[in-house]
Amino acid sequence: MKICVFSDYTSLSAACADGIETLIKEKPDAVLGLATGASPEGAYEELIRRSRAGELSFRAVKTFNLDEYCGLPRADRNSYYSFMWEHLFGHIDIAPENARIPDGNAPDLAAECLAYDEAIKEAGGIDLQVLGIGRNGHIGFNEPADAFTKGTHVTRLTKSTIDANKRYFDDNPMPEAAITMGIGTIFSAKRIVLLATGKKKAEAIKNTVQGDISPRQCPASILQLHPDVTLLLDEEAASLLG
Ligand code: F6R
Repeated sequence: MKICVFSDYTSLSAACADGIETLIKEKPDAVLGLATGASPEGAYEELIRRSRAGELSFRAVKTFNLDEYCGLPRADRNSYYSFMWEHLFGHIDIAPENARIPDGNAPDLAAECLAYDEAIKEAGGIDLQVLGIGRNGHIGFNEPADAFTKGTHVTRLTKSTIDANKRYFDDNPMPEAAITMGIGTIFSAKRIVLLATGKKKAEAIKNTVQGDISPRQCPASILQLHPDVTLLLDEEAASLLG
């Protein structure tokens, strides 16, 4: 694992955008795996800026998002569909059909999961996967469990994740299930960049880098076995690394 520690979020975000820009310049039809949440927002802002400045084009890029809530209408402001269009897709020249997000309202969720993994394979696999990490070490919505998950699947969210995300839902109930890429899907990406900031992520980062490889203690610990993982951290998220 390569670990880069930044003194501020702006430079961490720029480093993530640099990696994506370099890849797209080398391979204009690159396949990106994308995350929602606070961690990648700065990188998306920077990509929008570069795209508006004419430095970067997503015309031939394909993207696959990690996850989506089940049963939440796409138009709901808390859906990951809304998040991605608000924070990235709506401001760059990506073809809408190339920006894939799991459909949490599909009539047959199991078929949707299989089709999602198949579409990733057909696209040639993910060249670069962007990840955030939960306080409990989750990546995507792969929560601590007895075994590492394989492909895209439907999962129930844990109390820790619901507590972390329910502030966005005001008085509306938060969905308790989601479709997520599996650990196997994520692990198949050729390169992985994981972003983490703040003290609340320090324990998860320590477990990811130095803990036992354990789906129960820290799902992200499996990344120790991947050949090309870079962690972009701020000083607080890196503070427990020995
Ligand atoms: C989001 C996702 C989650 C988040 C994680 C961290 O698509 O899959 O695993 O990356 O919960 O969220 P933030 O970045 O909001 O702290």
